[in-house]
Amino acid sequence: MTSHPHLASPNGGLPSSVLWAQLMLKDRLRPGDTVVDATMGNGHDTLFLTRCVSPGGHVIAFDVQAAALIETQKRVPAEMTTLVHSGHETMRAHVPMELHGKISAIMFNLGYLPGSDKTLITRTETTMIAVKEALELLKPGGLLTIAVYPGHEGGVEEGRSIAEWAVTLEPRRFEVQHLRPINRAAAPPELWLVWKRG
Ligand SMILES: C[S@@+](CC[C@H](N)C(=O)[O-])C[C@H]1O[C@@H](n2cnc3c(N)ncnc32)[C@H](O)[C@@H]1O
Repeated sequence: MTSHPHLASPNGGLPSSVLWAQLMLKDRLRPGDTVVDATMGNGHDTLFLTRCVSPGGHVIAFDVQAAALIETQKRVPAEMTTLVHSGHETMRAHVPMELHGKISAIMFNLGYLPGSDKTLITRTETTMIAVKEALELLKPGGLLTIAVYPGHEGGVEEGRSIAEWAVTLEPRRFEVQHLRPINRAAAPPELWLVWKRG
């Protein structure tokens, strides 16, 4: 009998971009940490993050869709979450000043919410404002994860902008990694990891 590997997709294959992000976050986050979910959607990642920082931690989550807040509210413990109905490009204004430079991780899962309005998609211009703000909010030793979906309209441009920005990050301040499937004809999701040096 073969046992299913722990660090694998449900079919036993390599982890997807989002699973890789979750594995990295789970390994690094600690009870009591404060983290940001920059793209709340249906709240699956928000819930995941609450579990990583429980007990005593807090998740601040953003989305432009009211429906996302309604769905997420059903899923997550209210006392551990602040759900913000605003774009992640307003992150700096919504994260309390005393937490600037103290956030342990910030997670972006870009694109649109499957099964919902595809016009409410993340956009390059606001995404780029947000990822730059995210690095300021992170604590030394904090982790930024960005899952990008080049498969949909606008996703290629968004991915390119992130790539162009990521290579400019000062190596003395940040470590950057890029994970992507390379032998598939379609354009599967890619993951960027940015670690702010401690
Ligand atoms: C791929 S989904 C996120 C999935 C989510 N993490 C989950 O676990 O269900 C992307 C989400 O980003 C949201 N979004 C689009 N533009 C945004 C913005 N400027 N700021 C924050 N969220 C945004 C969309 O409404 C959508 O819900």
